Amino acid sequence: MQSILSDAFAHRYGVGAFNVVDGLTMEAVLSAAGETRSPVIVQVSVKTVKQMGARLLRLMFEELASRVAAPAALHLDHCPDRSLIAACVEAGWDSVLFDASALSYEDNLAQTREVVALAHAHGVAVEGELESIRGVEDGMGSEAESPVVPLDSALRFLRETGIDSFAPAIGTAHGLYQGEPRINFERVSEIVAAEPVPLVVHGGTGLRDEALRELIARGAVKVNISTQLKITMADAYRTYLNERPSEYDPMKLFAAVKGEVRAMTAAYMHRLGSAGRAN
Ligand code: 13P
Repeated sequence: MQSILSDAFAHRYGVGAFNVVDGLTMEAVLSAAGETRSPVIVQVSVKTVKQMGARLLRLMFEELASRVAAPAALHLDHCPDRSLIAACVEAGWDSVLFDASALSYEDNLAQTREVVALAHAHGVAVEGELESIRGVEDGMGSEAESPVVPLDSALRFLRETGIDSFAPAIGTAHGLYQGEPRINFERVSEIVAAEPVPLVVHGGTGLRDEALRELIARGAVKVNISTQLKITMADAYRTYLNERPSEYDPMKLFAAVKGEVRAMTAAYMHRLGSAGRAN
């Protein structure tokens, strides 16, 4: 994870972090990475990890990633539960997002520091978060706007926790945008100028190319995509079955869905600029 993000940050290209929900979507995302020669982050939400188990997901990831000639990392998305973080660290995941945004500033800082100590002792990267990102991601979060932490406090959080990447509130939101998001590009530049750490764009679905380009150029290089993957997957199942009411071969159905998710992912890899960066 560290080498994927540091290369993207140094050369200012975006790396997609795609929230997968099962083996089929994990395979589709990884095969898009192989096809486009793109570094990739395979990201999993807490709900999915609780359903499938940290170890099973890790084993699936290792096998599927080994078939692909591109750097890939397995990352746990928004997790407030430290025992689940410990389970993922134990199972050999590459990175975790400790989401302590519901805690006070001081408690968040103290607990994030402890999570970093545990994770780094196992070579696992940590993404940190101070303000909750607006919108709901797999049952986590809320539509309420969270107050933005002043710059000096955000910088102190970065320095004192030692996190590897940071997800600040910059006006993006999980889910589908109602209207044009008002993105705080300046905040990205201010943070990165003072502390050169890769920033994370939550709510990547629905952002226009110009916004993505601007965010990436300023240092927000990890771009999370979840809603679009779910839409592509569900639409592919629906379309395939509706168009073929007497088709019952699961392998044909899965191949069709995988192809759609792979194509959507590959298109993002070109848009973000990670295509061709696998070396
Ligand atoms: P979207 O659901 O808007 O793509 O956001 C994904 C995300 O930020 C996951 O943490």
